[in-house]
Amino acid sequence: MSVPPLSAEQIITQTADFVRDKFLGEGSGHDWEHIRRVWHTSRALATTVPAADQLVTELAALLHDVADWKFHAGDEEAGPRAARAWLTGLHVGEAVIERVETIIREISFKGLGVPTPMSTPEGEVVQDADRLDAIGAIGVARAFAYGGHKGRPLHDPSVAPIVHDSFESYKKNTAPTLNHFYEKLLHLRERLHTPAAQRIAQERHQFLETFLAQFLREWEGEDLVAL
Ligand code: ADP
Ligand code: NI
Repeated sequence: MSVPPLSAEQIITQTADFVRDKFLGEGSGHDWEHIRRVWHTSRALATTVPAADQLVTELAALLHDVADWKFHAGDEEAGPRAARAWLTGLHVGEAVIERVETIIREISFKGLGVPTPMSTPEGEVVQDADRLDAIGAIGVARAFAYGGHKGRPLHDPSVAPIVHDSFESYKKNTAPTLNHFYEKLLHLRERLHTPAAQRIAQERHQFLETFLAQFLREWEGEDLVAL
């Protein structure tokens, strides 16, 4: 007996359940709550981008971190491969699977000097949503969670800011966490695609600037003058 195909809604719900089970309680900043936020933000941004297909957008948002190269020995194909395996199991059509794979392949930040253009409107939406979650208060929290997970110092003023011009050297990065602000976080606002995300980024970017100024002030004890 042949099984009737799943509806788009069923595919999304089953994918969300699968990813939630896999990532619940993960501690490096790639937890389910990050994915849930990216999923919801992507849905909201997609309403402003008529060319973005809803099923592709939601599946890419849900699966974008499913096997991140940072946690799979630098293997950039681990993510696309895991997404394909999951979606094939749900009998999702090849065209949708290919689009989701492409988005996962293209989405990651790969060093300040490495361009990361997105080739689809859904990809632009999901990359914007992912990047909005890397700035603002949550972005700050995630950066230090990631740095802690990797055993990095918060900051080292004796080390000049380092930026990477190739993905290969970015992969080997071990700089203190504050460096990530100069290499990535402060630049994300300029790299967003959709006007809706650019508007949301204003306040989040401003918060990054405020945080950084206060962090450095306290680091140097510049506020001790009030004693
Ligand atoms: P994105 O999903 O934007 O590509 P990543 O997957 O590269 O982001 O990173 C996940 C989270 O970890 C983000 O909040 C990111 O800023 C943070 N992160 C990644 N690399 C570093 C690093 N070297 N130092 C501190 N935080 C980092
Ligand atoms: Ni992400």
